[in-house]
Amino acid sequence: MSAYETLTVETQNRVGIITLNRPRALNALNSKLATELGRAATELDNTSNIGCLVLTGSDRAFAAGADIKEMADKSVYDMTANNPFAGLEEFGRVKKPIVAAIAGYALGGGCELAMMCDVLLAADNAVFGQPEINLGVIPGLGGTQRLSRAVGPALAADLVLTGRNMDAEEALRAGLVSRVVPAAQLRSEAMSVAGMIAAKSLPVIIAAKAALRAAQETTLAEGLRYEQRTFTSLFALDDQKEGMAAFRDKRAPDFQNR
Ligand code: CAA
Repeated sequence: MSAYETLTVETQNRVGIITLNRPRALNALNSKLATELGRAATELDNTSNIGCLVLTGSDRAFAAGADIKEMADKSVYDMTANNPFAGLEEFGRVKKPIVAAIAGYALGGGCELAMMCDVLLAADNAVFGQPEINLGVIPGLGGTQRLSRAVGPALAADLVLTGRNMDAEEALRAGLVSRVVPAAQLRSEAMSVAGMIAAKSLPVIIAAKAALRAAQETTLAEGLRYEQRTFTSLFALDDQKEGMAAFRDKRAPDFQNR
């Protein structure tokens, strides 16, 4: 794996772990981090013996948002022609599932980065919010769009318009995260979830992620057609034959495409 300045990458049992590492800035997303994150995630996406990614930060911060100090003096031209977050678009195109393990602050771009992942796990000290309104801007990496879909328009409007924070329990009740665990268990929980995903057939988990994404991006009718076409196409895989044969034989499946 390549070496990075703003994050670390490890691999363990078919799981690629990316840890954001700008501790003095609470993992604020500057252009360097965005570029490196896009590159690291793409590298893991293209590594054949990796089935799932984990994205995490420190105990204190998953990420406290876009880097305000880097952004503060930029012009409209800088923000459009030299989009500092282009690397995050690359991150959003990763085909393999990504488990977000979120402890501490996940604010602004940090909350938005978490929402670009597929399974969101929170430590009991996690804090979510879209405080951009307090900076004289609005969320710019999906906070008005993905948050509305994740928690519904009422709570999304409450958070985006007031800029208030939400704790892990509220995030769980709202459906933003699927589990809350004690902070000390966050990493092992994330590795366990990622390990379960990585043990499945790789083309099938990629297909499942794409279908789940379609649910966020299209109409119900088009999404149902997409799902049905994908479901049917999976009958071309040896792993479908193996999965169903294993059920009939009352044994664990031995998927080949991993
Ligand atoms: N950008 C740049 N630096 C940041 C940062 C950010 N988003 N968040 C924290 N830091 C830096 C602080 O400036 C500080 O650095 P110095 O020691 O050099 O001053 C260091 O991280 C530690 O932060 P604090 O001293 O503020 O720590 P705290 O515990 O008192 O407060 C906090 C923590 C509540 C998260 C506070 O740091 C904070 O409010 N951060 C900003 C949160 C925010 O507004 N995020 C949205 C950013 S805009 C955005 O994300 C736009 C978008 O949608 C694309």
